[in-house]
Amino acid sequence: MAQQLMIANWKMNKTHDQAKDYMDILAQERLPSQVEVVICPPFTALGAVAAGAKASLSMVGAQNCSWAASGALTGEISPEMLMALTVKYVLVGHSERRSLFGESDDIVARKVQLLLQSALIPVLCLGETEQERDGNLTEEVLRRQLDAALPLTSDEASKIVIAYEPVWAIGTSRTANGEQVTAAMQLIRHYLATKYTAATAEAIPILYGGSVNLGNIASLAECPIDGALVGGASLNPQDFANLTRSFAVAKEL
Ligand code: 13P
Repeated sequence: MAQQLMIANWKMNKTHDQAKDYMDILAQERLPSQVEVVICPPFTALGAVAAGAKASLSMVGAQNCSWAASGALTGEISPEMLMALTVKYVLVGHSERRSLFGESDDIVARKVQLLLQSALIPVLCLGETEQERDGNLTEEVLRRQLDAALPLTSDEASKIVIAYEPVWAIGTSRTANGEQVTAAMQLIRHYLATKYTAATAEAIPILYGGSVNLGNIASLAECPIDGALVGGASLNPQDFANLTRSFAVAKEL
């Protein structure tokens, strides 16, 4: 079985001090040992999350990074800088980065490569828009995004995490239904098994993201997902801890 993961994506929320308070509360919670819990704060709160990670038994993640190792790139953050703050996971190609900040498939691919070279774990985000789903283009879009991001060897591919996040389900309270989630998971797994091996495909965690909350985590866990990428419902530490426990119970971990 692939590593089971629950990843909190705070997006552009919480200051350094608010992150510190969050981590103090999370440290009082019992997180399931079979699930790797990852907190992705804004860059400015990485230090606070890193300082509280050990006590809360969670890992540190970043929401983005540069496609270059260093240089004259005003405003960018390199993998080396993230590693110095004990970051382990980095989100790449989140739909908000793709749609609002013009991140192309090519940029996503460069980031994945650089992160792997830096021994950081890329969490490759994929997903179709509502228009693409309505136009029966979901499969084509996911294949295109996978093709672009994965000119990787089998060894490299086995070190990534994939998050399927249908754009229409993000921040909308419109979670994808079990059939839609299962179909996407099967498509991605099949793609990986065909490109690499069945064993490699099985070892890569594939998460679901998009309006995950306490009310739907149990039914989502019935789908072949290895965890979730959680936005809004991760902003309260007790709620997020509850979510990770509910996932572990539903998966019988
Ligand atoms: P919500 O859980 O708020 O829908 O956000 C999902 C997401 O984009 C996580 O990366």
